[in-house]
Amino acid sequence: MASRYADVYSAWEQNPEAFWAEAAKEIDWINPPQRIFDREAGVYGHWFPDATCNTCFNAVDRHVANGRGDQAAFIYDSPVTNQKRTISYAELLDEVKSLGAVLQGLGVEKGDRVIIYMPMVLEAAFAMLACARIGAIHSVVFGGFAAKELATRIDDCAPKVVMAASCGIEPGRIVAYKPLLDQAIELSVSKPQSVLMLQRPQAEASMMAGRDYDWAGSVKAARDEGRAAACVEVKSTDPLYVLYTSGTTGIPKGVVRDNGGYMVALKWTMHGLYGVNPGEVWWGASDVGWVVGHSYIVYGPLLHGATAILYEGKPVGTPDAGAFWRVIAEYGVVALFTAPTAFRAIRKEDPQAKLLKTYDLSKFRTLFLAGERADPDTVKWAEEVLGVPVIDHWWQTETGWCIVGNPVGLGILPVKHGSPTVPMPGYHVDIVDEAAKPLPNGTMGSIVVRLPLPPGALPSLWQNDARMVESYLTEFPGYYKTADAGYKDADGYLYIMGRTDDIINVAGHRLSTGGMEEVLAAHPAVAECAVIGIKDELKGEQPCGFVVLKTGVNRPPSEIEKELVALVREKIGPVAAFKIAITVQRLPKTRSGKILRGTMKKIADHDEWSTPATIDDPAVLDEIMDALRHKGV
Ligand code: COA
Ligand code: AMP
Repeated sequence: MASRYADVYSAWEQNPEAFWAEAAKEIDWINPPQRIFDREAGVYGHWFPDATCNTCFNAVDRHVANGRGDQAAFIYDSPVTNQKRTISYAELLDEVKSLGAVLQGLGVEKGDRVIIYMPMVLEAAFAMLACARIGAIHSVVFGGFAAKELATRIDDCAPKVVMAASCGIEPGRIVAYKPLLDQAIELSVSKPQSVLMLQRPQAEASMMAGRDYDWAGSVKAARDEGRAAACVEVKSTDPLYVLYTSGTTGIPKGVVRDNGGYMVALKWTMHGLYGVNPGEVWWGASDVGWVVGHSYIVYGPLLHGATAILYEGKPVGTPDAGAFWRVIAEYGVVALFTAPTAFRAIRKEDPQAKLLKTYDLSKFRTLFLAGERADPDTVKWAEEVLGVPVIDHWWQTETGWCIVGNPVGLGILPVKHGSPTVPMPGYHVDIVDEAAKPLPNGTMGSIVVRLPLPPGALPSLWQNDARMVESYLTEFPGYYKTADAGYKDADGYLYIMGRTDDIINVAGHRLSTGGMEEVLAAHPAVAECAVIGIKDELKGEQPCGFVVLKTGVNRPPSEIEKELVALVREKIGPVAAFKIAITVQRLPKTRSGKILRGTMKKIADHDEWSTPATIDDPAVLDEIMDALRHKGV
């Protein structure tokens, strides 16, 4: 079948408002949009500025009303607790009505913020939807972050309530969340009024009287008393959530997502991009703490009336590298979305994919990869073992959905390994030079998106329009700066080559090396430091920190290095995967004092490198090489 992509994309290009007005018909609005886009509102405009709606209604209630009440909304599969549970749309509706009433009972009103600090359990999704139902703004914080990171988020969005679970379960380790939460609240200035605590039997949390409320007990009480939250009408442009993501400093950016535009965009992607039908089983194998989890574990599949898998486990080790095949076969998954790292991990454990042979994957149609560069080797392996198209697609927390992809629903375009394919309707992507001048095909440059961004993409940062403008809209006037670099080929295919800032990507997790440097620099023995991302076979990249010790420090460097590794884990969290700290005498710098991180990275990656002309003392590079060799890097 010929792809309809060219026609659909050109229809969008000719009349973006007509395209999004048509897509908006798939949403049940309270007041449908009369205006599609207001160029004057916000920092670059607002989509559907006069419409009102409720996202939970569209994700849950309307499916029950339209006959999907008995269909599974979520299938929870947790190899780490040996539990499986299916919850229908009707049951989900009952859960979110009760939980919404509990939140209202705790004083949560429209526009209030609620932080959700939870692992991959069904209640995390209930929490998000319950907030959406009552017009509260949720902010999910990934469980692998430490107390200080949680505290920073608490202070930025000032939540009235924190919804948390007592623990997360990592292979071989139970992560008690409550001590981290208590510490975070202790550290924060804007203290939440209440904590709603989901007790898990693996590690029960101690409760603080007057502040902490038991989740199960509160929901039961709401049910017994017949309290149920109705859907609250919100403006399409009101925030649905704030999701924090790494910026170039230790202070994360609060990406704001609105209600109406997000629903319209996600609903379109479920069929246009992913080619999934309502009623089918879809699996986003990520975590609710990341954008992929927001868009494609919870909101996207539910808005579409699909069944979503919520998997609390890993691709390997829970119990083996056949875990993904088991889930696909057991539930008849038609499409899986995960990060390339997951497939690198599976391939490493089971290179011949022997475990696959015992499962029936006949319903499986497509594998989607995103979150980091999909290396052609891994893509080819996945194609071979699965025998289905493997689709790389590129997006960011900021955009909330795919910028460049291969629109399976419109008819798949030829796959070119190493390229996530072409821009989706909504995105006009250019490759530009430093003066924002478009570059010819084949030339590397900064990847930018012509304004306005489409529905679903961030309208701004949480209460910080100035940072939004400065971070994304200033360097290339008229464009959104993606901070990725790459090029286009003659067929218009994009190639994403890496970040232009100090963000690194570790196992599909986005991390700030600047944030890690702030932690290292705070150690009393450290005079200066530099953190770079170096190549890692499994995780794509891993952080590597170079430190220069203060004069007079005469403790063994290896001891300090261990403390530094522990410090990053304590301050940022295990997710930073910071395992390599190397003491050096000096850092390589330019004559003006700028640390030559790019050259250090090339040396560590064993890439070709040359001595920069601006270097102050070339001998420092030999010292770096020696130090790396000594560490076995
Ligand atoms: N709560 C607490 N700790 C967590 C956590 C959570 N939710 N998630 C991860 N961690 C911890 C891990 O236990 C690990 O700790 P360790 O240093 O004690 O081993 C550390 O954070 C690093 O985690 P991770 O980078 O995930 O590595 P891993 O070795 O545990 O697993 C993979 C490697 C490849 C199996 C895993 O990264 C994976 O499944 N990746 C898929 C990618 C993905 O889901 N990306 C999301 C964006 S799409
Ligand atoms: P996040 O905001 O966590 O989704 O991370 C976004 C960043 O991950 C992007 O800016 C890219 O650097 C990288 N990224 C995401 N998807 C891809 C992809 N398909 N190919 C290459 N890089 C990607």
